[in-house]
Amino acid sequence: MVENTKIIKQEQIGVDLYRMELQTSMTNQAKPGQFIQIQVPGMYLRRPISISEIKKDSLVIIYKVVGQGTKRLSEMEEGQTINVFGPLGNGFPIEQREHVVLVGGGVGVPPLYETAKQYRAQNTKVDVVLGFNDKEQIFYEEEFIKLGCSVSIATMDGSQGTKGTVINALKERNIDCDCILSCGPLPMLKALQNTYPNGYISLEARMACGIGACMGCVVKDQQGHAYRVCKDGPVFPFGKVVLS
Ligand SMILES: Cc1cc2nc3c(=O)[nH]c(=O)nc-3n(C[C@H](O)[C@H](O)[C@H](O)COP(=O)(O)OP(=O)(O)OC[C@H]3O[C@@H](n4cnc5c(N)ncnc54)[C@H](O)[C@@H]3O)c2cc1C
Ligand code: FES
Repeated sequence: MVENTKIIKQEQIGVDLYRMELQTSMTNQAKPGQFIQIQVPGMYLRRPISISEIKKDSLVIIYKVVGQGTKRLSEMEEGQTINVFGPLGNGFPIEQREHVVLVGGGVGVPPLYETAKQYRAQNTKVDVVLGFNDKEQIFYEEEFIKLGCSVSIATMDGSQGTKGTVINALKERNIDCDCILSCGPLPMLKALQNTYPNGYISLEARMACGIGACMGCVVKDQQGHAYRVCKDGPVFPFGKVVLS
């Protein structure tokens, strides 16, 4: 659905990082791992941003300022309205499981929050492993802990937690599981797929239509079959598509 939503909260929570809460009626349809496309005033193409939390009457997004669109978004104020299209794509599966491991890198962390919330609501043990470049970039550690997750941090420069990647943290903490749900940079997703047999990755792509019509966000499997990140994903099982 397309809806004019009201910005009910806009706050900076880190370096170039913002948390925005949008009052909307699409909460009933939204699932963890899905995304919305935001019509930033003055920008032609909508910007895809993951749903980070689904509340009764609002959706929370967390976004990093990387260019003009996200800069303008960060300048919008509480009380203003913004046009949103969604919820879009296929999210993370929420299944009856005893244990899941959620792995996020940088701005791949936001969609894992609602995923963790829903797994914790059914009493699943949730290990969360978050990777960042340095400790200044870390966000949402406390929020995951409050949900009852066990949280491990990896930083590339070793300024907090395990020095290195999320894979180093998984090994150091002896975390193993038959279901890993992940979102983050491509090298991280590739390393996870190469190390663990079962799980899901959430992919990013440059997007235009967001509904599977323009084929602008295509990835392929080993046989060359095309999948649209916006409609067939953004969440795919490990090994389904070739990561290049
Ligand atoms: C399904 C999906 C979910 C996303 N969820 C989030 C989220 O929760 N939080 C968040 O901060 N960002 C998220 N992104 C990325 C976000 O869409 C882009 O950062 C944003 O569109 C950039 O817009 P801009 O106008 O500020 O930057 P632009 O001026 O368009 O680009 C600035 C820089 O960002 C890169 N970039 C732009 N769009 C993308 C993209 N879609 N994927 C990868 N790199 C891009 C460009 O190559 C360029 O280097 C998501 C992307 C997708 C596809
Ligand atoms: S953005 Fe148009 S098909 Fe995915």
